[in-house]
Amino acid sequence: MQNIISVANLSKVYASGFEALKDVTLEIRRGEIFALLGPNGAGKTTLISIICGLVNPSTGTVLADGHNVVTEYRAARSRIGLVPQELTTDAFETVWATVSFSRGLFGKPPNPALVEKILRELSLWDKKDSRLRTLSGGMKRRVMIAKALSHEPEILFLDEPTAGVDVELRRDMWEVVRQLRESGVTIILTTHYIEEAEEMADRIGVIHRGQIILVEEKAELMRKLGKKQLTLQLQEPLANVPGGLDAYGLALADGGNELVYSYDADAEQKGIADVLGALGRAGIHFKDLQTSQRSLEEIFVSLVSERS
Ligand SMILES: Nc1ncnc2c1ncn2[C@@H]1O[C@H](COP(=O)(O)OP(=O)(O)OP(=O)(O)O)[C@@H](O)[C@H]1O
Ligand SMILES: [Mg+2]
Repeated sequence: MQNIISVANLSKVYASGFEALKDVTLEIRRGEIFALLGPNGAGKTTLISIICGLVNPSTGTVLADGHNVVTEYRAARSRIGLVPQELTTDAFETVWATVSFSRGLFGKPPNPALVEKILRELSLWDKKDSRLRTLSGGMKRRVMIAKALSHEPEILFLDEPTAGVDVELRRDMWEVVRQLRESGVTIILTTHYIEEAEEMADRIGVIHRGQIILVEEKAELMRKLGKKQLTLQLQEPLANVPGGLDAYGLALADGGNELVYSYDADAEQKGIADVLGALGRAGIHFKDLQTSQRSLEEIFVSLVSERS
């Protein structure tokens, strides 16, 4: 697949002397949903701001659909829609005027039918004549998305699109994002709701202290790092794991009432059969069992804390 954004050896030192990005190299594939995860202050907004031409890089280059974001700013920017993390809206404008004007800013001819379609999809149609200052926080965020979509970008950046948005609306937004991807738009999003990335992303990038520490297909990441657990509820509590079972790395939980076996998600399932056989021979009986897989959230937390 062809890459739509190429970031090469990018670094950013702010005027304060703070180094917010360190030698970042990253390719975004055309048509994918890419989730950029990282703790507060990791450099996500800085990276997005550079790609969108709002902040100058210190070194390195960024191409958006083949256009250098510094030397060919207009060509690059016209392909990009940005929903910024910080809401900036003109409080006295109406929803309709703001979204229509935004399209004009990119030199596109008026298209009321498109603006109507966008507002309807984002459940903003009944607010089209409302002034922005009269909207709730979640509605303002939706207006920012409508603005970003108004000029039909090929690439859409969503910087914390669902911060402060209720569960139902978050699901609606995911649906809108999926439809956009269906229509060929490339989407890069940041989020602190890791389940959002788990639900939506094709690939995951993790940034920590200005450095990209991992880029991986989501499915591959879950397969490689998504350790699985088998939990057995015992008929009789155990004071300790019998010596004969040492090889399996079993752990007791719930005051000795549960036995937990952790294994690699891609390991041979034979491991489970072996464990259950060994338990039977040791005379340990269980009344119930569950398996669970480590979530992306747990993977993320362990990746980041390993490096703190
Ligand atoms: N204009 C600026 N001048 C100096 N330092 C800045 C500036 N903007 C950002 N920084 C610093 O750069 C670092 C990265 O900030 P950035 O906003 O990119 O983080 P982020 O990953 O988006 O975090 P969050 O999850 O909180 O949104 C932070 O330490 C921040 O204080
Ligand atoms: Mg940010």
